[in-house]
Amino acid sequence: MPSATTVHHSRTLVIGSGLAGLYFALEVAERGPVTVLTKHRRESSNTNWAQGGISAVFSGDDSIAKHAEDTLRVGAGLCDRAMVEHAVKLGPRLVRRLVNHYGVHFDTVGDEENAPFVLGREGGHSRRRVVHHRDTTGAEIQRALVAAAAAHPNITLIEHYTVIDLLSWAKVDGSKGCFGVYALDNRSGQVEAFVAPVTVLATGGAGRVYRYTSNPDVATGDGVAMAYRIGAPVANLEFMQFHPTCLYHPEANTFLISEALRGEGGILRRRGGADLMKDRHPMGSLAPRDVVAREIDAELKRSGERCVFLDMTHLDGDFLQERFPAIFQRCMDLGIDMREEPIPVVPAAHYMCGGVVVDHQGRTAIPGLMAIGEVAMSGLHGACRLASNSLLEAVVLADGAASACDDFGRGPPSRVDPWNEGAAVPSDEAVMVTANWEEVRALMWNFVGIVRSDKRLERALRRIEMISEEIVEYYWRFLVTRDIVELRNISLCGHLIIECARRRQESRGLHYTLDYPETKAELARDTVIDKSCGPET
Ligand code: SIN
Repeated sequence: MPSATTVHHSRTLVIGSGLAGLYFALEVAERGPVTVLTKHRRESSNTNWAQGGISAVFSGDDSIAKHAEDTLRVGAGLCDRAMVEHAVKLGPRLVRRLVNHYGVHFDTVGDEENAPFVLGREGGHSRRRVVHHRDTTGAEIQRALVAAAAAHPNITLIEHYTVIDLLSWAKVDGSKGCFGVYALDNRSGQVEAFVAPVTVLATGGAGRVYRYTSNPDVATGDGVAMAYRIGAPVANLEFMQFHPTCLYHPEANTFLISEALRGEGGILRRRGGADLMKDRHPMGSLAPRDVVAREIDAELKRSGERCVFLDMTHLDGDFLQERFPAIFQRCMDLGIDMREEPIPVVPAAHYMCGGVVVDHQGRTAIPGLMAIGEVAMSGLHGACRLASNSLLEAVVLADGAASACDDFGRGPPSRVDPWNEGAAVPSDEAVMVTANWEEVRALMWNFVGIVRSDKRLERALRRIEMISEEIVEYYWRFLVTRDIVELRNISLCGHLIIECARRRQESRGLHYTLDYPETKAELARDTVIDKSCGPET
């Protein structure tokens, strides 16, 4: 039955409270009220978990051209060169703005104002250019931006609201637009409407689609799923980046061992001590992530071992403790002293290089809907993201969207349909959600992981089609909850990843398939799908 639905209005609506969402909100807040919705706590974001840092050119031996070149090389022929040049050029100014305007502390040489940054190095970079705050860069950015947003009178930050779907309109002449969202108040169970001329998706990634991931619980691909459902094109979802080194320990689910450790000289070893990456790539253990993750995957399959090892024991112990305090402590808590013994590591799903198709200012194909940060596919990452270019993309798109948003919304229709819960009743079968959740994540890990094949993808497709049907039926039968919203989104994202992977009949960047091991020059194009040619929802 339709019930009276509370409708909130604001000038701009942001979904997600990581770097992209908060930076955007802060940049537009002088112009009018901004509402930021987040489905958990304000600091629950992928940003908060980022260890490495943000890449930008600051050293004398580096240049914008070199940063662009590294990004393009790692992107394996699919980066949008104009976006790459735009982003790397803006990087230094926006990093300075984070420091000088929003109070983010990055590590510097000395304490005086504008002191040079201490620069880290990560996989695929030819120079040191990763600006960081020890090994907790994301948490530091999150701290500063949450504090700035909370202090701004025009920003309303609302926690514990799960966005269910985007509000959209369409006319017979083919024009369409987005004008806000329906969102569930997780605590009261009520659904409310949030209406604005411009809605900005800053919902992060979809690591939770996979059984093993470095991502927090909130990374369930909500933005991609919602945008696809209202007809926005999404692209390149086959390029899921697996981070080579997550801690392997029964009690350390999802703990990342930053690539910055390899940047400081860490060496990946097989059990027994042999250098895993020797003769495999000119950059050795610091080769691009796709290369390293595939080598580890092959080694685990070949040897039957459960992990490989990251050796830091040849480096100075005091330096390790000072430079990587969080990783050092986490390992120590689990009885691993990285000064004395190698760290057991395995790959895990880490970053979604594809997403909702946007231009350099974060505009999607749907007027009134923008997407910024990991949820977006701007062309910066191509087929494989260069390490620490993700926080860079978040801030570059947020900055662009802030300048473009005033002219992008057509304004909402005058009326919002009340939320209609139909004949839905409270669920008496929550086990169905848990079981399907586990099944989706297991099938994605087993059949759509680091190494794919036609057979594995067909198997995955058959299973996801069946599960999706069940989920959609469950979704309409029972009252909506955060769990069911997230399950509906991860299953759609999984389905979209499988569809994109089936369409790419070659190996390129992060997509490697046994049936087409070569890269084919004639297939150097994005995999774009929308509702007219992709899965039904
Ligand atoms: C890391 O610290 O290894 C992650 C950095 C990134 O994903 O860019």
